[in-house]
Order: sequence, then structure tokens, then C-alpha cells
Amino acid sequence: MKKVITYGTYDLFHDGHYNLLKNAKNLGDYLIVAVTSDAFDKARGKLNVHDSLVQRIKNVENTGLADEIIVEEYFGQKIDDIKKHDIDIFTVGSDWIGHFDYLNEYCKVIYLDRTMGISSTELRNKKAVNLGIIGAYDIVLRFKNELKFVGGINLVGIYDEDADKLNAMAYKVEINPYKDINSLYADVDSIYIATPPKYHYKDIKNALLNDKHVLCEFPFCLDTNEAKELFEIAEARKLILMEALKTAYCPAFCKIVPIVKSGLIGNILSVDACFTQVHDSKITEQIELASGGSINALASYPLLAIFKFLGVSYLDVNFVSKFNSDGIDIFTKFNILFKDAIGTGTVAIDAKNEGTLTVTGTKGYLYVPAPWWKTDYFEVRFEDINKNNKYFYRFEADGLRYEINSFIDCVRNKIANVVLTKEEILAEVSIIEKFSSKYNVKNI
Ligand code: CTP
Repeated sequence: MKKVITYGTYDLFHDGHYNLLKNAKNLGDYLIVAVTSDAFDKARGKLNVHDSLVQRIKNVENTGLADEIIVEEYFGQKIDDIKKHDIDIFTVGSDWIGHFDYLNEYCKVIYLDRTMGISSTELRNKKAVNLGIIGAYDIVLRFKNELKFVGGINLVGIYDEDADKLNAMAYKVEINPYKDINSLYADVDSIYIATPPKYHYKDIKNALLNDKHVLCEFPFCLDTNEAKELFEIAEARKLILMEALKTAYCPAFCKIVPIVKSGLIGNILSVDACFTQVHDSKITEQIELASGGSINALASYPLLAIFKFLGVSYLDVNFVSKFNSDGIDIFTKFNILFKDAIGTGTVAIDAKNEGTLTVTGTKGYLYVPAPWWKTDYFEVRFEDINKNNKYFYRFEADGLRYEINSFIDCVRNKIANVVLTKEEILAEVSIIEKFSSKYNVKNI
């Protein structure tokens, strides 16, 4: 019996997939189809898959062409599968010519003609979300660069009140400039807000009242009541409202949360997170960008870790800051007290320390090396070092693709964001607001 194996994602099942499977089946007597798992697709950088694994398997099953369906879960699995299933022929479409020649050592490799004019990517793009940007700031450049890794987004244009800034940015990133914000609203269904925090409330509200889904840069806004109002508007109008805090959506951090919550390192007694920068001559620009000092610019990151691991029901907070002559905090250390734990954050825009995250538990601790907010690797450590474990994930480029992908997923499927919750965002804003109202702030 001649056994054939083929691999694919089979997202939004189409004629190209069907033809490939039919031709693969005709190569032998028994066809095994390996469908990629969601985690494997993410790990190989394919972030925009639309259908679930179960749906994709069902679609392959419905063709009646597969004698067996397996799941592809890791790099290097093809060699294991070929040996395990005693495969005679490995086949994929001609878009992969040359790529799998190394498998000739284990079985015959055949590249089948690809069906022209159709692909999952094209089908996904037909369902594209029309996105506009508000705010001509540098982050837009990075945002635009990351869009291509997500797919399914049609970047319509950018708006900024300042016409010179708008034109300069539009030229730099090759996006259509809109002189009138209402024209932009008319052409899009979603908005990415890249303005400084002091404008977020106004910009988010305006976008929501124009029935646009919103992804807003951090910190979400500077006042808790305003933040609550924004969520109320979004909920009433069934709109997605998300904060663009990249770490919350990146693969490694998403895995740290369940590990910490699982009790593996015991009861959590403290979370310590540090994020510091030195801006030197660019510090005035940075203060303008953040509408303030180190708390506004960076506290969102330690607050993310603290509220994710300890919950949002904190009892109290205190701050120790170094202010510059303009009253801007260039360094702040804060302690957030919980019933059974403490969270400490260190942030600075004109001082430097090691940017690590550690979580102290009664059985062990979690260590994330610097820069923890961009992590692709972390360790769980114990008194008995034989029990220590290292975990590796991917973190590509700036990591913005993960938050963009989550946003697009929520918009397309009309599901509320569960990665960074409303409660966590409100807790974050409440700390920032307390700091600006000088609640429990000591100078050094
Ligand atoms: N395939 C094909 N003809 C097409 C599209 C896909 O023969 N028009 C083949 C691929 O070469 C592969 C299999 O179908 O062997 C599964 O491909 P998959 O990557 O799941 O589909 P694509 O449509 O190529 O997906 P994407 O656009 O996301 O790359």
C-alpha cells in the first residue's frame, strides 16, 4: 500500500485545497492530512488564521479524501510523522518548491501544481477591517510595519490636527492623509489612536460616538471616571475598545499568566517589575509624548504584571519620586498593597536599572529577564534547582503584531477582548490618576 502525507492550515477551505487533496490522494492508496494546530501556526508567525483547528479539520474531513487526519504541532514533526506512519510520498503545493527537498532522505517528495487565483490569504483579505489612524506620531511607523504580518487589514488613512505633521507622517509611512476627521470616520470601521495620553479621552470618545471600534495607545486615559464612561459608550454601542499595551498580548506573557495563577510557585507574595529609560537630550520630546513623566510613560507595564498576577482589588498605593525642576517625575517607585501581597513597580525616563520581572511565591519564583516587556523567554525557579524550568516563545520585532492581531480578531468576530480586561485597565488608570493628584507621593 502506497502511503501519502500532506500538510496545511486549510483556513477558509477553498477549491485550491480540494484540488490539492484530490491530487494527493491520486498519488497513492492511503492519504494522511496533517492540519496545523493554532499554537503551531502562531509559533511559525502565521497569526491571522480565521477558522479554529476543529473547523479546519472538519473541512478536510468533509472532502471524504483523507483516510486519516493528524495535527501538526511542532517544527521537525514531518520527519517524525514520515517515519512513524511509514510514508512513501510527501506532497504539498508548488508554492513550496524546494522547501521540503530535505525530506527526500526519508521518502519521495512531490510538489503538486497549485490552483491559480485562490488562497486563504486572499479570502481573509476580502473580509478586511478598514482601519484609520489618529495621531501623526512615530509609533505609527512601527505600527504600519507590523500590519503586514497580521493581514486582513486595509489601512485607509491617517488624521492629525496639525496639517504639517500629518503630511510629513503620511509621506513617511505612505498612508493617505485626511484633512478632515469626519471623512476618515466615513471610510473606516476601526480606529487606532496614537496621540499622547492627554488627548485619549477626547479621541476615544469621538471615535466611539462615530461608531468606530477603537485600539488606543497606553495609558488608556488619565481619569477613572472618564475611562468608565468610555467603556459604557463602547458597551452600549457594541464596539470593541482595547488598549494597545503590547506585552499583554505577546505569546510569552500570555503563558506566564496561567503559570503564575496555576499555583506552581505557590501563593504569590510579591510582584516586582521594572521599566526604565534614559532619554538624554530627547527628554522634552518624551515628556510631551507621554503628557508627563515616568508614571505616564511607563507605569502601564508594571501595572499590567501586578494586576494580572494579584488581581485588581488593591487596598492602597504609595509612590516615591524624583521630580525635575518642572515638576515632572523622572523616576518613580510605587508599592501597591493587597490583602496578601505587594506589587512594586519602578519606572524612569531619566534613570536606568535592570528591566526584570520577578514574582515571589511560597514554593518558588518566576524570573523574566530584561527586557521583560518584550520577553520570549522566562524561568520558573525553586529552592531545589533540579525542579527549575525554562520556557521559550516567539517575540517578533516590536511585538505590535500581537496586539493588532487580537484587536482584528475581536472586531471580526465581534467578541470582547479578554486579554487585557476592562477591570485591569480601570485599575491601571486609577493608579495613574492617584499619582497625578499627589496621593501618597513622597519626594526624594
Ligand atoms: N494550495 C494549492 N492551491 C492553492 C492554495 C493552496 O494547491 N490555490 C495548497 C498548498 O500548496 C498546500 C495546501 O494547499 O499544499 C494547504 O495550503 P494552505 O497554506 O493551508 O493554503 P493557502 O491558501 O496557501 O493559505 P495561505 O494563503 O494562508 O498561505
